[in-house]
Amino acid sequence: MEYKNILLSVDNGIGLLTINRPKVLNALNVETLKELQAAIQEVKGDPAIKVLIITGAGDKAFVAGADIQEMKEMNAVAALTFSKLGHETMKMIQDLDRPVIAAVNGFALGGGSEIALASDFIYASENARFGLPEVTLGVFPGFGGTQRLPRLVGKAMAKELIMTGKMINAQEAFQMGMVNRVWPQASLMEETKKVAAQIAGNGPVGVRLAKMVVNSGFDIDLAEACSMESVAFGLCFTTEDQKEGMKAFAEKRKPNFQGR
Ligand code: CAA
Repeated sequence: MEYKNILLSVDNGIGLLTINRPKVLNALNVETLKELQAAIQEVKGDPAIKVLIITGAGDKAFVAGADIQEMKEMNAVAALTFSKLGHETMKMIQDLDRPVIAAVNGFALGGGSEIALASDFIYASENARFGLPEVTLGVFPGFGGTQRLPRLVGKAMAKELIMTGKMINAQEAFQMGMVNRVWPQASLMEETKKVAAQIAGNGPVGVRLAKMVVNSGFDIDLAEACSMESVAFGLCFTTEDQKEGMKAFAEKRKPNFQGR
């Protein structure tokens, strides 16, 4: 499908979704959010894509937030609808039945940090900057930042970022557990693709179930979450992937997973 504000490509099982409005630092307007939703749906329908990487076009920004030009004219009803559209989009990223890695290559502010937080994990370039500057605009985060950031880095750290609106650099984001790894900008994509390829080589059903169990188990009681893990673990043993993975181990060869 053709998009105006997004690029989607596939190479060797790895999907690359690039938010492509570099003139406005890849800011998220309504049209871009709708295209993001369509692109996630496209990825969902393409079994060739084993892992999705999300990044921003250009070397300056991942996404500098929701589009302020568009938001400044909104009334409360329009803002509620916009926030819901953002939330739906973040949930689609979070719930995608494939791993999603955010490769943050510059500013990830407001809605940009929120996309990264909805992804499974975040890699960043040394020049990346994170922040939730919405309070400096007289509002506060509206695409899940007040909920996903505290779950990742703890309530107090999250409140500091949300209430000050300050930006932090990639190392600071790494130290607080928001970012998994930091690379020089020139190698961010290559390193991210290497990890994506490693994940893509694993049993797809196991990877999908692991994502589902981690996400679904996170906000519920531990005993319930552990029994959900047991059920999903048992389910793996109905798959060809499990037979192939364990047979390959016994035969001392690399498994050839089919995702079935
Ligand atoms: N929306 C719309 N346009 C944006 C934008 C945004 N979020 N961020 C940057 N731009 C535009 C700028 O207006 C500018 O356009 P012009 O060339 O037409 O003037 C262009 O992108 C380049 O930006 P700057 O000239 O400002 O670049 P800079 O290097 O001086 O500063 C920056 C970079 C610090 C990221 C600065 O652009 C900035 O502060 N951007 C806004 C960040 C922000 O507040 N994000 C949160 C948005 S609210 C939100 O996301 C709500 C939510 O949770 C749903």
